[in-house]
Amino acid sequence: MRIICIGGGPAGLYFALLMKKLDPAHRITVVERNRPYDTFGWGVVFSDATMDRMREWDRDTADEIEGAFNHWDDIELHFKGRALRSGGHGFVGIGRKRLLNILQARCEALGVELVFEHEVASDEEFADADLIIASDGINSRIRQKYADVFEPDIVTRPNRYIWLGTTRLFDAFNFLFEKTEHGWFQAHVYKFDDKTTTFIVETPEDVWRAHGLDEADTAQSIAFCERLFKDHLQGHPLMSNARHLRGSAWLNFQRIQCKQWHHFNGRSHVVLMGDAVHTAHFAIGSGTKLALEDAIELVQQFKAAGDTPEHIPQVLEQYQAVRAIDVLRLQNAAWNAMEWFEVVGRRYADQLEPEQFMYSMLTRSQRISHENLRVRDAAWLQGYERWFAQRAGLHVAADAVPPPPMFTPLTLRGLTLPNRVIVSPMAMYSANDGVAGDFHLVHLGARAMGGAGLVYTEMTCVSADARITPGCAGMYAPEHQAAWKRIVDFVHASTPARIGIQLGHAGRKGATRVAWEGIDEPLDSAGAWPLVSASALPYLPRSQMPREMTRDDMRRITADFMRATRMAAEAGFDILELHCAHGYLLSSFLSPLTNRRTDDYGGSLENRLRFPLEVFNAVREAWPKDKPISVRLSCHDWYPGGNTADDAVEIARAFKQAGADIIDCSSGQVWPDDKPQYGRMYQTPFADRIRNEVAIPTVAVGAIFEADHVNMVIAAGRADLCAVARPHLADPAWALHEAAKIGYDGVAWPKQYQSGRRQYETNLRRNYVAPGK
Ligand SMILES: Cc1cc2nc3c(=O)[nH]c(=O)nc-3n(C[C@H](O)[C@H](O)[C@H](O)COP(=O)(O)OP(=O)(O)OC[C@H]3O[C@@H](n4cnc5c(N)ncnc54)[C@H](O)[C@@H]3O)c2cc1C
Ligand SMILES: Cc1cc2nc3c(=O)[nH]c(=O)nc-3n(C[C@H](O)[C@H](O)[C@H](O)COP(=O)(O)O)c2cc1C
Repeated sequence: MRIICIGGGPAGLYFALLMKKLDPAHRITVVERNRPYDTFGWGVVFSDATMDRMREWDRDTADEIEGAFNHWDDIELHFKGRALRSGGHGFVGIGRKRLLNILQARCEALGVELVFEHEVASDEEFADADLIIASDGINSRIRQKYADVFEPDIVTRPNRYIWLGTTRLFDAFNFLFEKTEHGWFQAHVYKFDDKTTTFIVETPEDVWRAHGLDEADTAQSIAFCERLFKDHLQGHPLMSNARHLRGSAWLNFQRIQCKQWHHFNGRSHVVLMGDAVHTAHFAIGSGTKLALEDAIELVQQFKAAGDTPEHIPQVLEQYQAVRAIDVLRLQNAAWNAMEWFEVVGRRYADQLEPEQFMYSMLTRSQRISHENLRVRDAAWLQGYERWFAQRAGLHVAADAVPPPPMFTPLTLRGLTLPNRVIVSPMAMYSANDGVAGDFHLVHLGARAMGGAGLVYTEMTCVSADARITPGCAGMYAPEHQAAWKRIVDFVHASTPARIGIQLGHAGRKGATRVAWEGIDEPLDSAGAWPLVSASALPYLPRSQMPREMTRDDMRRITADFMRATRMAAEAGFDILELHCAHGYLLSSFLSPLTNRRTDDYGGSLENRLRFPLEVFNAVREAWPKDKPISVRLSCHDWYPGGNTADDAVEIARAFKQAGADIIDCSSGQVWPDDKPQYGRMYQTPFADRIRNEVAIPTVAVGAIFEADHVNMVIAAGRADLCAVARPHLADPAWALHEAAKIGYDGVAWPKQYQSGRRQYETNLRRNYVAPGK
């Protein structure tokens, strides 16, 4: 085959040499605009795993690279005058120039033709090529030429960065944080040979501008960074290898994804590779790895299908199908890491102490979990767990094993929860005229015995016409209070758990059938009751039309909430949650999708908050001063024109000012066609943002289903509690079982169940494989 690689970066060179190895008869040319030793950038890092893959495909290159590598295990954080270090991270660093020279030499040895100092204007220069690899980097001209085919999605990110080097040698991967009068700067620092260290400086656009760096040329920018990081540089200079020192060398990262990776131009097949088709932020250090792995995959597909021109279309299809999935996975992790560095100044740096800041930074991509950190550096993690437990008010003796963050207490006003796991509120549709019965006693009682620190009732309705379904529980009649008191008393007398009540009003989502007869499906008109909502909008086209609430309705419903609150206090509940989520009545006021009012209760966010805050204030007044109140929010409507996380931050701030103690961060269910972005712990970013930007405790909820998730969320300070719903339906003793799975024995099982515990733990130990291994 006749093959042309446009661009002699890692992707083009590595593909060329592997393909030549596959069959030396292939005629392969790499065309590069730069001179052989003339390249941008300093050092790049890979993981040990990338090296292993390279060794499988070409031992000679891998040996050469390994000979030039700097290997290190430690990450060191410099923050607020402290230096913290953890190990076991396994990186290798190499100069970009050195890497390219190794690849160039190997290409030449195998007979690949290398053409330098030739800027390719178009793929049509190569009329005889069967295959053209567009490995021409992030600004790929070929990708731009066929943009309508490749459909690139390019997102320019807000931070500014400059890629520098220094002669100061650091013996670990260092992250340096410095605060100026305008905000935070961070440097990502790693040595890549015995003389030089990569030094990437990054800061948000507004901080960059406030320092006048938008007006600074490269030399002035370097002088600024040298002053800022002078304590770390210890007299060593910073250097740029941008060819011209005039003009700004500060860049914005661009995230690139393409829908289509290949195209037939009428004569040759053209395929994108490396940065030309996808980028990964340097916060995760994987762009070169992706480029090399693209090259490996394409060669692998040729090897499997046959490396002759007639196989090209099929091979390119397969190449895209396989790589697109791996790349997306890595881009998602890189995105999380990148976002962490974008918000670190305003969200974490001022709020978190160095120990927790370190933990948050290490888990920034959310690919490295709590137990994974234990595998990397058990001593460091145990030290952190000790620190965390002490901050939570526990005394941990120097020779005692500290509890994992999930099993530390949390205090809100006069309430101390024994651990961080909540049984999330879940409607059971099994009440009789609003009365919680034996089912509820057994259901909540079993879960309170099952290890959670707090169990919530389902949404408990403040009047008969506030119910979602005829099976919903209520708190509006004396028999309701008595029924709940029986359950509260059982939980208090027989378990270490605390118990909370969630109070709500269904609004326009009321008068529907119980779940197993059709969620949100309206009742037949005979059994239905009239509905009220912020505006006269039915939930589904076939739902009952609600009436827009009047001021009188508001007064009546506020009084209903107050009555229910007093009854709940008398029944002995420990915490109250006001349900302002999921499209029910209070949520229908908050969302602009469902609130179309033109009076003081609609329009601006301030107006939309007015009625929910009136209810909150009434509830706060009726609820004992020493008991906390939680507010559950839909932090994103997942629908155009609806509330987003930005609105949720302001809503949470308003409830905090009104006296809320904790915000329970759910999302969606406000609009029937919403499109939530599901995934592991998918709502935790809302809890994280609200906790750290509004400075109020939060509950994370949604697809949290392992101890590892809870530990990670709590330890990183993304939330203070984790609510776990569906896993508790599958397993009432979820918290006890999860403790056993991570080998933690400090949590008490009911004394009646001790022999079950011993057998369970023994069986687990026999089959245990640590997460991350
Ligand atoms: C600040 C920063 C830090 C980074 N750190 C890391 C890291 O630690 N680890 C890591 O794995 N990755 C890192 N990367 C990413 C890495 O540099 C790229 O992902 C990687 O180089 C992509 O390889 P490539 O071959 O696709 O493209 P490139 O390396 O960009 O190569 C493309 C080549 O094509 C040439 N070219 C372009 N147009 C033409 C044309 N028209 N004619 C001829 N030649 C042309 C260019 O001169 C260039 O040599 C970092 C990137 C940045 C910006
Ligand atoms: C059967 C069921 C009933 C639910 N009822 C309520 C409810 O009454 N109030 C509420 O705020 N959320 C309710 N939810 C939502 C859960 O509290 C929780 O936010 C959601 O299930 C996500 O958590 P998970 O991934 O752990 O299940 C319910 C969820 C389920 C599965």
